[in-house]
Amino acid sequence: MNIQWYPGHMTKAKRMMQEDIKLIDIVIELLDARAPLSSKNPDIDNLATNKSRMVILNKADMADARKTAKWEEYFKAKGFFVLSMDSRKNSGMKPVSDTIREACKEKIARDRKRGIINRPIRAMIVGIPNVGKSTFINSYAKKSCTKVGNKPGVTKGKQWIRIGKDVELLDTPGILWPKFDDQEIGLRLAYIGSINDEILTKSELALKFIDFLKINYCNALTDRYNIDIDIQNSENFEILKQIAVARLCLLKGNEPDLDKAAAILFDDFRSGRLGRMTLEEIPE
Ligand code: G4P
Repeated sequence: MNIQWYPGHMTKAKRMMQEDIKLIDIVIELLDARAPLSSKNPDIDNLATNKSRMVILNKADMADARKTAKWEEYFKAKGFFVLSMDSRKNSGMKPVSDTIREACKEKIARDRKRGIINRPIRAMIVGIPNVGKSTFINSYAKKSCTKVGNKPGVTKGKQWIRIGKDVELLDTPGILWPKFDDQEIGLRLAYIGSINDEILTKSELALKFIDFLKINYCNALTDRYNIDIDIQNSENFEILKQIAVARLCLLKGNEPDLDKAAAILFDDFRSGRLGRMTLEEIPE
């Protein structure tokens, strides 16, 4: 098995992001709280030099809360301003503006000294596919949506959303490309749906995922699918077959449809129905 992936359109996305970053004060990077390091593209560190940095551990509603708290500490220790959240809820957005203000405190003070007051902080969302960038922007914008429109000269063609009196958010996120030299990272990215399932067949991927579940969340499958099988001592292939049978995923001749069962498994994981899970431990 070999996973490697670099979509060609990312070159254009990177160029656009380099341009956009020049216009902003703070880069807000969305990570998947279930796989915070795997969903982080370290290249953003070079693109965002001299900018304030904030990390949002998104989809925290589906991650293991205790582990998310540790990941928050991990990123704070690296110098990031950090929040974890469920971006689908636009009720929890006040801490976002508060944290942006806190992260840009020095810049605001510098502006004041130079006589610039009330210039809004400009922020931009970045992240790899499927971490929730659009969902976040919609929720944050809904709170107080005023499109500021184009700023002639400086920001030609850019749309800014005014949030409250002191934050402006670029309405299109910067799409980062998933990056991995390590197969384990590639697998986590496939589990969370940030890289295409087509890299492996769905059932091959599911067999790997069952390995992870056996070690970390061994009751999740029996609880969800109501299957009567000794998870620890069964072959992954057998387990997937049982899921197929339990969910009536059958081919002609009543053969279990493993790809369909795998699709159900990932659908359930990606929407939190398998329970709250974190795929990744903090490195030593
Ligand atoms: P992207 O722009 O970064 O590519 O991600 P996008 O906002 O499209 O979100 C990808 C999927 O993740 C969407 O689900 C979205 O609803 C879900 N999502 C985003 N943020 C959160 C979160 O904080 N918690 C949870 N539980 N889910 C989140 P989808 O099934 O692809 O679409 P939809 O049917 O929900 O519209």
